[in-house]
Amino acid sequence: MNGATPNPEAAVVWSEIVGDARLYPSPHNSQPVKLRPTTARTAELFYDLDLGLPAESFGIPFAHVCAGVFLETLRVVALAAGFEARETLDHAEMDFEGEDRLHRFARVTLVPVELDPEQKLEAEIALERIRTRRTSRRPYRRASVPAEAIAAAERICADAGYEFRHTGDRALVRRIVHVNQATLFDDLENDAVYDEIMTWLRFSKREAAERADGLSAEAMLLPGRILRFAMAHRGMWRAPVVGAAIRGVYLNTMRGVHELGWIEGPFDGPRDYIEAGRTFMRVWLELHRRGVVLHPFGTVITNPRSHVLFAEAVGAREGEGRMAWMLFRLGYSAYPPLALRRAAEAMILDDRKEETR
Ligand SMILES: Cc1cc2nc3c(=O)[nH]c(=O)nc-3n(C[C@H](O)[C@H](O)[C@H](O)COP(=O)(O)O)c2cc1C
Repeated sequence: MNGATPNPEAAVVWSEIVGDARLYPSPHNSQPVKLRPTTARTAELFYDLDLGLPAESFGIPFAHVCAGVFLETLRVVALAAGFEARETLDHAEMDFEGEDRLHRFARVTLVPVELDPEQKLEAEIALERIRTRRTSRRPYRRASVPAEAIAAAERICADAGYEFRHTGDRALVRRIVHVNQATLFDDLENDAVYDEIMTWLRFSKREAAERADGLSAEAMLLPGRILRFAMAHRGMWRAPVVGAAIRGVYLNTMRGVHELGWIEGPFDGPRDYIEAGRTFMRVWLELHRRGVVLHPFGTVITNPRSHVLFAEAVGAREGEGRMAWMLFRLGYSAYPPLALRRAAEAMILDDRKEETR
């Protein structure tokens, strides 16, 4: 990269970088990544195991997926600030039972780069995408995603050794949307998963604002009172009348789903999981750039029963270290509600003085 030079001496405050990097998406919006600055240009990245979701069958691999999502976000944010985020990854498995609650997954060094004006503009636009991307759980318009957008997602996946697949087949889409809804019911019958979800649900706007994390009723497009009632009476979900009503409220938010996308490929250990997360975030940002929204159906992947139903329905090629590791609906919708993030300080481990002494 060459051309006009940003001021390489500009003091980089990690909290500034974190100010945008904290917008990375995480399952249940649990925001598990923590950053410990070691110098003005170096930091260690941790996954806070107390903010993980190990109860789901693939919850542990998904922790590394989330780390990969974060690394891609950090790369984009750092570049807009004039830095290449150079990583040294740690591919150890996460130990959710252990005493040490912080799992280090990377060391990062910010290396100044010279961007020409065009590259600088591109980097700033990419940052804007980080700032405006949101999960859309709203009803989608019945419109297909253009072939160029699909081709772009396919290219991103192929470059990383994955396969992007999609379907607009009405019957198949409908079937999988129902699998996604049934996953919720199935998950709630598993006590560990139920307890985990309850930790992250925010039923009122006030609660969502106070905690600035988790899944708010507003972001899920469900009335808080109905969500609270339904969650408190999970036994009723199978009841004929009330169950059907709750299912109806939920499926109503899925109106207009026209297309589903999923990604298949190597998913066999932390190295793969991290690369999967990075690739997923690249796809998400690229689709967002083109005005396409998406809604991950991660729980269909992590729930074993749903996973089998989905993989069979789409004929996913799985086994020998390969998996269909992400599924989402994609399309066009009104701009979705905001999922709040904790303040930047909450992400920074404040033992900096200890570390740099
Ligand atoms: C790996 C991954 C899996 C996810 N799985 C689901 C899911 O199964 N269902 C869902 O509604 N949202 C899912 N999400 C979306 C998150 O809940 C969402 O990103 C988070 O609440 C923050 O909201 P935002 O994307 O609007 O910033 C997933 C996100 C990621 C990164």
